[in-house]
Amino acid sequence: MALFRSLLRTKHLDLILSEAESSTQKLKRVLGPVDLIALGIGAVIGAGIFALVGTAAAGDASRPGAGPALVLSFLLTGVACALTGLCYAEFASLVPISGSAYTYAYATLGELVAWIIGWDLILEYAVGNVAVAVSWSGYFCELLRGFGIEFPRWLATDLRTALHSPEILNSAPHLFGKAIIFNLPAAFIVTFLTVLLVIGIKESARFNLVMVGIKLLVLGFFVVVGAAYVKPENWHPFAPNGWAGIQAGAAVIFFAYIGFDAVSTVAEECKNPKRDLPIGILGSLAACTVIYVVVAAVLTGMIPWSRLNTAEPLSVAMRVVHKDWAAGIVAFGSVVAHTAVLLVFQMGQPRIFFSMSRDGLMPKSFSKVHPRFKTPYVTTILTGVFVAGASSFASLDEMADLCNIGTLSAFIIVCAGILVLRKRDPLRHRPFKTPWVPFVPALGLLACLYLMMGLPTMAWIRFAVWLTLGLGLYYAYGFSHSRLAGNHDGR
Ligand code: ALA
Repeated sequence: MALFRSLLRTKHLDLILSEAESSTQKLKRVLGPVDLIALGIGAVIGAGIFALVGTAAAGDASRPGAGPALVLSFLLTGVACALTGLCYAEFASLVPISGSAYTYAYATLGELVAWIIGWDLILEYAVGNVAVAVSWSGYFCELLRGFGIEFPRWLATDLRTALHSPEILNSAPHLFGKAIIFNLPAAFIVTFLTVLLVIGIKESARFNLVMVGIKLLVLGFFVVVGAAYVKPENWHPFAPNGWAGIQAGAAVIFFAYIGFDAVSTVAEECKNPKRDLPIGILGSLAACTVIYVVVAAVLTGMIPWSRLNTAEPLSVAMRVVHKDWAAGIVAFGSVVAHTAVLLVFQMGQPRIFFSMSRDGLMPKSFSKVHPRFKTPYVTTILTGVFVAGASSFASLDEMADLCNIGTLSAFIIVCAGILVLRKRDPLRHRPFKTPWVPFVPALGLLACLYLMMGLPTMAWIRFAVWLTLGLGLYYAYGFSHSRLAGNHDGR
């Protein structure tokens, strides 16, 4: 019984806020509302719209495609994210602390659920970034090709693709009879951004602003040029695989929306978090939904949906209509967009570790702030090593599915958290209030569950293994080291 009570121990909101306020390990408060919306768009528009949109439209061996009804998939997922975004915004304004959903769960649903969320968020941020880095590498090679440079395929591919391609295996150098396969561009970009993030957040936010501008321009360019080549007959039949295709498409394309919540992880670096966090979260989400629906409509109108199962569908669509120069511009925009996503996620992950460490659930060294740069450098480097390592051999769609299932489960817990906190602490001042409670959180929860059901069985199996691993770690370390368990040295 005592053990059960310990698992449900919650961290009181006042304690969370006062600890963050009095902590000596403080981050610099430099970000305003424009930085936050840009950070949101920076995190959101990337591999999802530039690469996974092809899988969502055309399907693959493990799922049916949405076809031209991809626009409905985007709307469906956009609604699910907006419902969850409203819950995130209430929490983020109430608990402007860098741990995001992890911190919200700690305040409402107890330590065990908080740990599970923190563990899930590794799937969202670090594993999600593995997928983005792999996709970055593909587009980067495509861009080089435009300049006549052919990157060796064995040095820029994932293990699964290589094992199915005798051509790649034969071209690779061998060591002790084994082919050497390595995704060098993916590992390189992650390493480069890690160094940037250790140096400082304001510098990174400025870099992000430029990249956001470029990717918006390039998507605008795609829509304007592509619209002239839309053939309405490509939109028929509209939903070739019915609702099953739309649901599966929505579950894949969920990846394209992930990131609006990353805004909440920089709460401790905002000048006015209570006002600006909701603006950042909801503003970036609304902008991205509109952009996605328009891009999806143009894309599926340009070429038959069944031809979209490629890693760079937007460039392919341009090539099909004989606009090779435009395909090159799209490839360039895609590389930039991917880079912006990588940057925000590499920034979000260490800040979650930072909060978990401050609570004693992870080693104390994880919350060290660099004396000169004032950044959480230990966890930034650790995240960099993990993501760079995994992206040098992992495959895009498997990592994206795993990221989606982990993020959706974290979203479900956030929606549940709003329901719990409204009941437990109804009078607390909420600078931003989720409207129509309990309907919005309840619908958000159900919508996320519906999207999860659209993911392949393999993603569920991997997710179960991941959770089991996380629970093992919690019992081995977090449970006894938690500050709420009385470990005030936090070691
Ligand atoms: N939403 C991000 C992307 O599409 C993760 O790359």
